[in-house]
Amino acid sequence: MAVIDTLPASDILPAEMKTHPVIPVMDLNAQDRPAKKAILRGIRGVIDRNEFVQAPIGQKFEAAFGKWLGQDHVVGVNSGTAALFLALKAMGVGPGDEVITTPFTFIATLESILYAGAKPVLADIESDTFCISPAAVERAVTARTKVILPVHLYGHPADLTRLDAVARKAGAKILEDTAQAHGATWNGRKVGTYGAASAFSFYPGKNLGAYGDAGAVATASPEIAERVRLYRNHGRHSKYQHEVEGYNERLDGIQAAVLLAKLPYLDRWVKARRSQALRYNKALGIASVRSKGIEVPPVRPEAGHAYHLYVIRAKEREKVAGQLKAVGVSTAVHYPIPLHLQPCYKHLGHHAGDFPESERAAKEVLSLPLYPGMTKSQQDRVIRAVKNL
Ligand SMILES: Cc1ncc(COP(=O)(O)O)c(C=O)c1O
Repeated sequence: MAVIDTLPASDILPAEMKTHPVIPVMDLNAQDRPAKKAILRGIRGVIDRNEFVQAPIGQKFEAAFGKWLGQDHVVGVNSGTAALFLALKAMGVGPGDEVITTPFTFIATLESILYAGAKPVLADIESDTFCISPAAVERAVTARTKVILPVHLYGHPADLTRLDAVARKAGAKILEDTAQAHGATWNGRKVGTYGAASAFSFYPGKNLGAYGDAGAVATASPEIAERVRLYRNHGRHSKYQHEVEGYNERLDGIQAAVLLAKLPYLDRWVKARRSQALRYNKALGIASVRSKGIEVPPVRPEAGHAYHLYVIRAKEREKVAGQLKAVGVSTAVHYPIPLHLQPCYKHLGHHAGDFPESERAAKEVLSLPLYPGMTKSQQDRVIRAVKNL
């Protein structure tokens, strides 16, 4: 996910780049520097104690993450994708059920529904937050709707108040895709505690990231937690007695140790993301930048944005990205193709024009560099570059 460009040959470098290296979209080394010693100590401990699989270090992380989140049960698994899939299974989702989600997300959200054997039903996003529209969800509800699966995209919470009302009316449950929203809040409470369950990803670039793949399901329900525990470990409680057919989707010990060492830094990292985002909002949310076809998306009053990504809209995105790259500012696009237009999902039967807000977002969104450890002068360079477009 990190975009680290190489410098062009020095004779064609613009003046600014001759003295400054390229600014990446994210820089894990810069973020993790203060935690590195503890991380290495943690990894070493796992090796010394052979705590590789289903070991106490995993439970230790689950307890610590549950305490940080304010949720009763956390079950560690081996990716965010597994967290979504196993949470759906544990919520009883299967063939014949419908799960409503957004086409403007990373593919894993939709994959998990199909893995569970259910039918994905797509509902368009809101133009301001990029998250699923409760009104569109309400229109998509049928008698078969079992779960509503909102994604807190980029770290901005979906409208959990209105989604909860729609879910109650439909007799459906909410599963939150919290992969990008560690530390985000809705009405002052952390997201990931609102739905019947929530799925976290600890992919390395996430707000809390492992040094490999990892994820977790969080829930207040002891039944859902117990089922995820069973499913992640071949459906067993004891070594060779299998209650159900399960999977091998356990959180591994080394990743648990990395996450445990990084967790104490999470709040200050989210705070750093927020203050950098605030600087961008102030500097770029001005008329002269807007006149270049660039828009800084608003944040809902109920939302505590966790700024996993800082995403603007740019009408002429490719041109803007090219101009920023020329002065050493990397950008990225999350995501250029909405899921209903992906070749692999032709079978869902959708066409261009079906979800206009998702399609417009896919054409316009542009992620700017933002990460804990980014210096003020680096950010000033990004701001200058955008203002000079
Ligand atoms: C919104 C969203 N959902 C799900 C996932 C899947 O997580 P993982 O990569 O850990 O399987 C991701 C991760 O990239 C994501 O961004």
